[in-house]
Amino acid sequence: MCGIVGYTGKKQAYPIILKGLKRLEYRGYDSSGVALLKNGILNVYKKKGKVVELEESLLGETLEATIGIGHTRWATHGEPSDKNAHPHTSANGNIAMIHNGIIENYALIKSDLLKKGYSFKSETDTEVLLNFIEDIQKNNNCSIEEALRIALKRVTGAYCILLIEKNNPDTIIAARKGSPLVIGIGKGEHFLASDASPIIEYTKEVVYVNDYELAIVKPDELILKNLGNETITPYITKLDMELAAIEKGGYEHFMLKEIFEQPSTIFDCLRGRLNSKESLIKMSGVDDNIEQILKADRILIIACGTSWHAGLVAEYIIEELCRIPVEVEYASEFRYRNPIVNKGDVIIAISQSGETADTLVALEKAKENGAFIFGVVNAVGSSIARISNAGAYTHAGPEIGVASTKAFTGQLVVLMMTALVVARHKKSISEDRYNALLVELEQVPEKVEAILKNADQIKTIAEKYKTANDFLFLGRGYNFPIALEGALKLKEISYIHAEGYPAAEMKHGPIALVDESLPVVFIATKDPYHEKIISNMQEIKARKGKIISIISEGDTISPDLSNDYFCIPIADELIAPLLTVIPLQLLSYYVGIAKGIDVDKPRNLAKSVTVE
Ligand code: G6P
Repeated sequence: MCGIVGYTGKKQAYPIILKGLKRLEYRGYDSSGVALLKNGILNVYKKKGKVVELEESLLGETLEATIGIGHTRWATHGEPSDKNAHPHTSANGNIAMIHNGIIENYALIKSDLLKKGYSFKSETDTEVLLNFIEDIQKNNNCSIEEALRIALKRVTGAYCILLIEKNNPDTIIAARKGSPLVIGIGKGEHFLASDASPIIEYTKEVVYVNDYELAIVKPDELILKNLGNETITPYITKLDMELAAIEKGGYEHFMLKEIFEQPSTIFDCLRGRLNSKESLIKMSGVDDNIEQILKADRILIIACGTSWHAGLVAEYIIEELCRIPVEVEYASEFRYRNPIVNKGDVIIAISQSGETADTLVALEKAKENGAFIFGVVNAVGSSIARISNAGAYTHAGPEIGVASTKAFTGQLVVLMMTALVVARHKKSISEDRYNALLVELEQVPEKVEAILKNADQIKTIAEKYKTANDFLFLGRGYNFPIALEGALKLKEISYIHAEGYPAAEMKHGPIALVDESLPVVFIATKDPYHEKIISNMQEIKARKGKIISIISEGDTISPDLSNDYFCIPIADELIAPLLTVIPLQLLSYYVGIAKGIDVDKPRNLAKSVTVE
């Protein structure tokens, strides 16, 4: 949440920062701002709304400077407004600062500062931290770096901060704890950002800053220190990402591009790992730790949002194939209750961004208790990837649309392959079943391709139901989590209230909502309980609900019961979620655009939730 960008070098900073903010807008878009430093003068510009509104407000301004910082905000403390937008400036006007995270003990610090005569221009915790730094600097007559170090030892919460100071003409000082920071190393220039997307265009050499580290960044110099003022050697990594991956590539929205990329992202996820002809799945993260996994009494899955839904599908798959008990937990609940985690417990952490604060902290807690963390992560080099003992990347490439699509199918593929490897070692799966599932997995990219060819059918359905106030999504077995995911996607992207339910459980409540105005989406592919879901359809039809069904090719019963239906290729029930989710992603997308919603940046949401 919140995107931050910084530049110090010889080029003009503003265009680089502006472009970077646009790339990071998925992290929040309540307001944005930049601070530019030139000849000892600090100019700060900020604006409520999306980055483009800041850009428009600055047309015609002379924005020359070779050092600057910029921020795009997802509001926590204080409403979205010009005054709460970052950068903030300290009381004496000498320092400008941007912040991603939350300073939890800000109220206490603020009351001390108020007593000392400080006043505040905004309602943010960031301005409190900034004036705290200024106050320490004043009282100790020390450098800003020293003041920052002292301040950070006294604050609780999460932060990635960048600050520039009038008296430091070419230096950006940065620090992180809990919120990500990447530094790009150019020739006589440095780039700082929340992720690599603003950097990739200029350099592929980056340093991922760790928690409790401070960076002093000048055009020709990068110094990393810990909070104890000891110097740390920066570890330079090469980015494995192309610029094209973070651009729209001719699509109207990132979300649509990412939905349509799934045949290739799923293929990339399988590539080099699965070979059905040789009956082989190679996953070093699983193979190298197989003993650890096999001796686990149970597996805990921890995630949030869409990733949590992938966890629910994995629960069904792992229990079925591996016969190991699985529990799926919301990270935000897990971290605050008193869960039982023992040494040797296996935890699967699922996260697209690898930065979700609740998931990260839950894992830190479990790791302290001796759990073994297996990360299923999309963002390479992210915090969750780094905290994991082992893992497997989903290889879906950068996901920019706020609603997760291709990362979800990547997670399902990785989790499925993981379960197959474990099951084979455990001998809880027959060779025939194992081989059949390998063949089915290999066919997924072409089946997804076939579904996408019929996207227009979903567009027509979306047009028909776009004015509904509520939707119900129902599924059984492996498709129950997909019902939850379909409902979540629709809420996120179209602002229509939607509920996902197990189809049979619907009788215990949601059925009361059914009337002729309620669209009910059934995910009713051919599986062992197909007849049961047909009965559930009858129950809805009898109450005049409008049935939209996602069914298997060749199903002759469901079309008669449905007002609208969409066919997907035949697949094993374990594989079906990878296919059934695609039309639901498209449905939310097309309803969203039919309603004129900015589907890549729906209101109030952010992609990388780095606050709890
Ligand atoms: C946010 C995003 C969702 C995502 C969830 C978990 O809510 O909008 O799309 O599923 O965070 O994020 P993660 O990066 O941990 O998968």
